[in-house]
Amino acid sequence: MTFHIGVISGDGIGPEIVTEARKVLDRIGNIFGHQFEYEDILMGGCSIDATGVPLTEEAICQAKSSDAVLMGSIGGNTSTSPWYKLAPELRPEAGLLKLRKALNLFANLRPAYLYEELKEACPLREDIIGSGFDMMIMRELTGGLYFGARKTEPVDGVMTAEDTLTYNENEIRRIAVKGFEIARKRRNKVTSVDKANVLDSSRLWRKIVEEVAKDYPEVSYEHMLVDNCAMQLVKDPKQFDVILTENMFGDILSDEASMVTGSIGMLSSASLNDTKFGLYEPSGGSAPDIAGQGIANPIATILSAAMMLRYSFDLDQEADAVEEAVKQVLKDGYRTIDIMPQEADKKAAVTQVGTALMGDLICERIH
Ligand code: NAD
Ligand code: IPM
Ligand code: MN
Repeated sequence: MTFHIGVISGDGIGPEIVTEARKVLDRIGNIFGHQFEYEDILMGGCSIDATGVPLTEEAICQAKSSDAVLMGSIGGNTSTSPWYKLAPELRPEAGLLKLRKALNLFANLRPAYLYEELKEACPLREDIIGSGFDMMIMRELTGGLYFGARKTEPVDGVMTAEDTLTYNENEIRRIAVKGFEIARKRRNKVTSVDKANVLDSSRLWRKIVEEVAKDYPEVSYEHMLVDNCAMQLVKDPKQFDVILTENMFGDILSDEASMVTGSIGMLSSASLNDTKFGLYEPSGGSAPDIAGQGIANPIATILSAAMMLRYSFDLDQEADAVEEAVKQVLKDGYRTIDIMPQEADKKAAVTQVGTALMGDLICERIH
């Protein structure tokens, strides 16, 4: 079969990690007899440099007409890059938010899984890690603070900035349904995370989650306040199966969850709507501090491509093959710098490799 994939390489390490995910897709195509056709789409800082805006209408059309989009990352150093001297709606991140909204990608899945081989890269104590952990962060992606009205203006002579956090019940219901559906295919547990002791939007969130939960009697659920959740993630990450939460909380908690898996470079993600279409990207950013050095970890992007095979193309066997190859490469002792063991004596037992070699080694292990 032929699949048409839009490719947003983006900025910083984006092009480096996307190259490796494409290598892996091509290897899958050769072995399993599929044709992957790629079309480059400009977004982020590179689009600003080429067109003056972070996302053109043409780019949105290209994404819409693809079967799925593979993305690296966008943005630059927010303190030093000239992109951050532009008006907020002309900065790189505005392109990503516009694309998520235009494609109605309300459900963001971020699986945080600790590979047996990466226990030594995990900053938690051995007794906390135990037999490891495996959670799915379900982040609402097209509502909340990211998309509410905002303004900065003087109020009574004092410069004042305002961002608004709005959710309606339909937006909450559709992500809650996705969360419970996913939990049913996993370990039947949902932890809904909110700040219902303070926010009205969180109180509505709780009410709707409780309504949805009634349709899933086999799934157990609990509510947890976000500050407690941030703490529980490092105290006892094993307790979590599906974490269901709103946009901003999900952004922050997923970066935290990534670090307990060893590195943000391991955390894949899928952004989905109600169709088979999806945008697949690592959860981390453009990593300007290491861009251009050939040392970024491409695994999150490669695992995001595996999610594309599974969720958008229904190619489960092919997705399994990619995930198995990642496991095998770690078992064989290959590590990018971000997932090297923390202790010196353990470093000697593994081999440090760069971005491209890691991609090649994973390809070699796909059968
Ligand atoms: P970041 O995720 O880019 O980097 C944080 C730290 O993690 C850095 O030390 C970086 O080197 C490291 N890191 C990230 N990905 C890695 C990888 N694959 N391998 C090894 N190390 C990795 O976050 P930041 O520095 O806060 O943001 C930089 C830029 O990225 C900003 O412009 C931000 O807006 C943007 N951003 C984009 C996305 C996206 O495109 N989806 C996501 C997050 C941040
Ligand atoms: C992410 C990123 C984005 C977000 C930024 C770049 C707008 O941090 O995908 O996690 O906050 O959603
Ligand atoms: Mn983020």
